[in-house]
Amino acid sequence: MSKSAKLAVLGSINADHILNLTHFPRPGETVIGKQYQIAFGGKGANQAVAAGRAGASIAFIACVGDDDTGERIRQQLMQDRIDTSPVETVPGATTGVAMIFVNADGENSIGISAGANAALTPACVVRHQQVIAEASALLMQLESPLESVLAAAKIAHQHQTQVILNPAPATQLSDELLALVDIITPNETEAEILTGIAVNNDEDAARAARALHAKGIDTVLITLGSRGVWLSEQGQGQRIAGFRVEAVDTIAAGDTFNGAFITARLEGKPVVDAVRFAHAAAAIAVTRPGAQPSVPWRAEIDAFLQQQGE
Ligand code: RIB
Repeated sequence: MSKSAKLAVLGSINADHILNLTHFPRPGETVIGKQYQIAFGGKGANQAVAAGRAGASIAFIACVGDDDTGERIRQQLMQDRIDTSPVETVPGATTGVAMIFVNADGENSIGISAGANAALTPACVVRHQQVIAEASALLMQLESPLESVLAAAKIAHQHQTQVILNPAPATQLSDELLALVDIITPNETEAEILTGIAVNNDEDAARAARALHAKGIDTVLITLGSRGVWLSEQGQGQRIAGFRVEAVDTIAAGDTFNGAFITARLEGKPVVDAVRFAHAAAAIAVTRPGAQPSVPWRAEIDAFLQQQGE
């Protein structure tokens, strides 16, 4: 099978329980919520959905529990144009859960129960190594066991499959893993945890990017919230602004960015154009509530870019 433009995503699947409130509860405080919804999420699944809806040819390596939620999520992923044959159902496990508070400013605070996601072990990765070997790119995040992320990166490296790592949620990573990464997409907090450099402005972002290049990573994309992203390739950096929109919540904005970015790159778009495409997808996502319900389809991204005169 040709490697042309195939994407493998490896990562988590969660059912998100989202509660909107005026402010986050302080320790010991109870806050009455305004709105509650359950929606499909998980950083891995969100990125897979973003890629599938944006038009990628994609297979997803993940685990769900043997519960009704797991089956419904699998059906939804298939509707989102994702090959779910590498999604394993784990006997006796519950599907992952995320408890998400969203405050009046659209900021969120998340607690997670890994559930079946913990069963995405290195042995599970090896069972699906063919998917990684046949792909042009492997996109991962850090809601899966770290040893499995490393195992998958090693398989990718052996087969000249490009490794894209979204290092979220934030944690320190080994030099061994970072040396296997081709493109890394931290936000400011994640960049600081990986490099020790607080990212408050473009100069800081450039320094953090240089530190990540020194670990062996070719392309560094530091997402800067409303300020856009810092793109650094071989030490040459520039900030690429995002689009101004009225945000409802930012859940899965980063995930949408990652899935759309790699889709555009696999289509052969130059990296700056791929960032603009990903900015557009993320801008649409923040105007809608929830994780996967907010992720746009390709036609919506193209229409948005056309409206912006691009
Ligand atoms: O990035 C957003 C995601 O983080 C949510 O969908 C939630 O499941 C957590 O994994």
